[in-house]
Order: sequence, then structure tokens, then C-alpha cells
Amino acid sequence: MDTVSSLSLAMLSGFGNEFATEAVPGALPEGRNSPQRPPHGLYAEQLSGTPFTVPRRESRRSWLYRIRPSAAHPPYRRIDGRLLGGRLARPDPNRLRWDPLPVPDEPTDFVAGLTTMAANADGAYADGVSVHVYRANRSMQRIFWNADAEMLIVPQLGRLLVATEMGRLQVAPGEIVVIPRGVRMRVELLDAAARGYVCENHGVVLRLPDLGPIGANGLANPRDFLSPVASFEDRDEASEVVQKFMGELWATELDHSPLDVVAWHGNNAPYKYALDRFNAMGTVSFDHPDPSIFTVLTSPTDTPGRANMDFVIFPPRWMVAENTFRPPWFHRNVMNECMGLVTGVYDAKAEGFMPGGLSLHGLMTAHGPDNATTERAMAAELVPHKIDGTLAFMFETSQVLRPSEFAMACPQLQGDYDSCWTGMRKYFAP
Ligand SMILES: [Fe+2]
Repeated sequence: MDTVSSLSLAMLSGFGNEFATEAVPGALPEGRNSPQRPPHGLYAEQLSGTPFTVPRRESRRSWLYRIRPSAAHPPYRRIDGRLLGGRLARPDPNRLRWDPLPVPDEPTDFVAGLTTMAANADGAYADGVSVHVYRANRSMQRIFWNADAEMLIVPQLGRLLVATEMGRLQVAPGEIVVIPRGVRMRVELLDAAARGYVCENHGVVLRLPDLGPIGANGLANPRDFLSPVASFEDRDEASEVVQKFMGELWATELDHSPLDVVAWHGNNAPYKYALDRFNAMGTVSFDHPDPSIFTVLTSPTDTPGRANMDFVIFPPRWMVAENTFRPPWFHRNVMNECMGLVTGVYDAKAEGFMPGGLSLHGLMTAHGPDNATTERAMAAELVPHKIDGTLAFMFETSQVLRPSEFAMACPQLQGDYDSCWTGMRKYFAP
């Protein structure tokens, strides 16, 4: 039998909600997580995203009702990860920037095209992040899951259909999708080519930031996060399954599709979010707020306010500050900034930072607007001005990111990035 149910892309709305969804009526057991015989001959399986005994507000877990349990698999064997993982270069205190990596000519699926650019940890630690670029020109014919991290995927080129064991999510540039640790998925391309960014969050799961004095509304609102309804494949045919475990890839072969969850309930589920739903806040008087005002999602640490990772965006927005240098000012930060650009032009750089490109400004690294942007901003007439047609973002982490050896050797590494700050004019006139 070859059946794909629930081809509709109906969505469940809310962040961290306890959802309940079934692709076949009556597939969800009433009142019990694991009845002696679940309805319709399904197996019950729990998928934990957090330790059992974390405080209830932290807990993420779901119950999956599936045709076969995930435990029914042969041994995994290690396979070549190509550009995924690999060795990290020695830490480098320089400002680093890359042109976009090209989409390969040879057949490349989402997993084969995953290229590690920087990391500050691997899956062996319960914190840190790894940053990758993906590039693909064909849909996966196999299944992938990640033991090392939850994955925040930021498409930059091409739409994706992410078929997961908990349902199907369509995502396009301008949107993000988050796949919890362990969730099986198959990334299909809806356009000829796909490229984007992946942040593996090895730390505690992403959540919405607290809003403090902002109040009960604003930034990313919970109802704009969408999780899939249950959708399953009843396919008794060979299926390669690849997992990422401690930075390496391992594969096994099933005689069925593991995307066979007929119903599920719980709050550990994939979700997507359209970044144009972000309610951006900013100054209406003067000065430039810290970029934390643009935090979409955060992975906190035990130290209040010190994020393992913040996902921050720079969306279209009005600039109205009076007597103010409006672009991001020069700065040296204790946090580490890894930036990408989905589309348009980032307001701190006149040129050189291209959609699909990447920059790395680490611990205490001095950086800021380039010369051209600085001169223009100091001379600008400060009328209300809308930054439009752009979407930049930042993975900001509390630990130093080390570039990969690949990233330091690839021709896309810009050799002249520093030159955008050289020859800065001296204005001093006591
Ligand atoms: Fe910065």
C-alpha cells in the first residue's frame, strides 16, 4: 500500500502548545498515552525534547501513534558526511565574511549539501551551536534526523517541503522552520535550487524571549507559529535513514517509510514562522537600541540574559530617530555574531555582504558600519525613512565560534573584508 494522507497543509497555531492531531479519525487514544492496544493497531512512542523532570514550563514531549515503532531498525553504519562536520580551524580573531556558496552542479540533496561553516560545540555537549549552509538541487530520496541538536533552518533560495514524521511543512525564503532533535524528516525541493542556513542548537530548546517592559504583545507573537497536522506514509518499500550523531553521519535501511505517524499529541513538534509576522520594535525618540530588541527565538543558559543562542532578525522597519546615527554603531561585544542575509541590503554595509553570504564577528571583535555607510549616515537628513526589501539575521552565541577548515579554505572567504573600514576619515578638530 502506498498512501500519503492529509496532503492538505493545514496548520496548528501557537508556540509550545499541547497539540492533538490525527490523520485517521479515532487514531488518538482517549485518556491514555499508551493503552494496551492503541486504536487502529498503532504503536505508541514517546519523543522527549527535554529531560523528564524539568519544570513543567520547560517540558517538551510528544506521543506518537505510528505504524511501526522507531526501534524497528537494523544497525546504523558510519557514512561520509562530505562537508558536514569535519575539522574546525584554529580560533581566528579576525572579522570574517564569505560570499554565498554556489549551488552545486552535481546531484545534491539537503543532507549532501550541508556544509559546516562554524561551530562552538558538537552534539557531545548540552550547549553551543553549529552553523551550516545548505545547498541542494534535488529532493531527498532518504530520511534524515539529528541526534545532536534541534535545527533552525533559514531558507534563502527556493521553497522547501519538509515532510516530517509529525506532518508536512512548506517553507519559503522569509520563513523559518525548526525541527526538534530526533524528528525524522525528508526535505523536498519545490524549486530547481535551494540554499539557506542551518543553526544546530545543541543547548536548551528555543523559545520566545520574555518581553519585559514591552508588555504582553510584540516581537514574535505565539499564534503565528505553525505546526503541522498529522500526515503519514504507509509505504512498505526500502527507505534509507541517515542520522547525525556526535557530528558524524550514520545510515541504516528500513523496509518501510518512517514517516508513519498517524496521530500525535504533545508540545514537542516542528514549527514554522513567517518572519514578516515579526512585530518589530524600535526607538521613537533617539539612539539605536541593542539588536536584542529584534530577538525572534532564544536558547537561554543558566545565567539570566546570557543566551546560548539568540535568533535575531533585521526586518523592514521605519527609522525615525532624531539626532542619531541610525545604522548599527561601531561596537565590540562579548557575544559572538554570525550573520546571514536572506534578501536585499543590510543597513550597516554598502556592499560585499550578499544574500546567501555569511559574516562572523566574534568575541570583542571591533566592527560596525563600513566607510561608505558611515559617511552617508553622518550626512543624512534625518527624515522618517523606511528600510525596506531586506531581511538580515544573526545567530548570536555566548561562546566563540570557530570557522571550519572548509570555511577558511574556500574561495568564497573574502580576503579584503577589512578594507571596508580602512582609510576612515579623521574628523577630530579640537
Ligand atoms: Fe555586530
